[in-house]
Amino acid sequence: MVVNIEATLRSVAAAIDAAEMMSGSEVKTVWTGIGGSHIDGINSRGVVAVTGKGREIGPSDIARVLEAARAVVIPMDRQILEVIPQSYIVDDQKGIRDPLDMMGVRLEAEVHIITCSGTSAQNLVKCVNRAGYEVNDLVLQSLAAGRSVLTEEEKELGVVLVDLGGGTTELLVYTEGTPYSITTIPAGGEQVTRDISIIKGISFENAEKIKIEAGCCWKTMLGTGAAGSPLEGDDDVIVPGVGGRPPMPIPRSQILTIIQPRMEEIFGMVKDELDRLNLSRPLGGGIVLTGGGAQLLGAAELANQIFKMPVRVGTPLSVGGLVEEYRSPVYAAAVGLVLEGNDREGKAGPDRSGGPSPRESAPDGIHKKFWNWIKGEFF
Ligand SMILES: Nc1ncnc2c1ncn2[C@@H]1O[C@H](COP(=O)(O)OP(=O)(O)O)[C@@H](O)[C@H]1O
Ligand SMILES: [Mg+2]
Repeated sequence: MVVNIEATLRSVAAAIDAAEMMSGSEVKTVWTGIGGSHIDGINSRGVVAVTGKGREIGPSDIARVLEAARAVVIPMDRQILEVIPQSYIVDDQKGIRDPLDMMGVRLEAEVHIITCSGTSAQNLVKCVNRAGYEVNDLVLQSLAAGRSVLTEEEKELGVVLVDLGGGTTELLVYTEGTPYSITTIPAGGEQVTRDISIIKGISFENAEKIKIEAGCCWKTMLGTGAAGSPLEGDDDVIVPGVGGRPPMPIPRSQILTIIQPRMEEIFGMVKDELDRLNLSRPLGGGIVLTGGGAQLLGAAELANQIFKMPVRVGTPLSVGGLVEEYRSPVYAAAVGLVLEGNDREGKAGPDRSGGPSPRESAPDGIHKKFWNWIKGEFF
């Protein structure tokens, strides 16, 4: 959520400047991720009669049925972010992924509609515009993250993406290859940092530094040492003194006792949400943790104990040319946005989309051959 337009637009401009410098390309338009507690997802359906020649389902029938499915009443202050087709029913045949060219009289679509607060979306677009760039489209951040870290197999089996961000934790459930539910939990890594800051009486910035360098939420992982940190085992962490007091050493195990309960609480809220979904099948793909918070040492181990399901940390999957540094869960959403933008602009790219999307039109004829060649050659 944008809480300060001026500060946000400065960050946007600085980030894009850095990206331009690094890539040597000029940026004019951007694909912008959106997330937060104002996001909501609902399942809906629509039905139409097939009008195509000889009752053969054509692209216009599919467009009409999706249009019908999105005709739900949403409050005035909300807008539709995305309509994701889950599956189609042709006459009595259920579970059809792509009904194009099938014969039928009645076409029904099951869709997942994602809505967001209109003002939140407008503020975000305004910041990007005022920084001097145009927004191509707003894309749900967790969908983008899912795109870069989940495998097709996981999506088919059913998987939960838990995107541990700063202020929020976003949940994206895939079943049978398509998004089934999207939920936001209003707690994230900032709460963990705030706990350390309050309990140890230090600034938020120092607490954040300690969390990243020495934080852990699973006891046996203390022996491993945080990534890029020289700390090992139950070494002491030096907590800076405030107001002239001398710095004090505290054991890492004490930091663990501050972090673990909060992480348990966050995962507990995720579990409550999952239990509420009443899924008809177990989620065979397990849990995939991503976002900055997934880097916390022991996060996967703790999650495994709470969910009693296989858990892995999701980093962006192979994308041509991505520097090692960015193969980290923090960049899952950003890499996903790049893939999404690339796809929607009709350029070649590894296709990780879960099922057909109304916006994705397949390149045709000679172009298709060319793109397939590019794909085969470079991806
Ligand atoms: N190495 C790390 N260990 C623990 N937490 C981390 C680490 N790196 C980042 N985080 C936390 O991840 C959160 C930010 O995640 P991010 O996905 O970038 O946020 P958002 O998607 O909300 O912008 C912050 O709370 C930050 O403290
Ligand atoms: Mg994130």
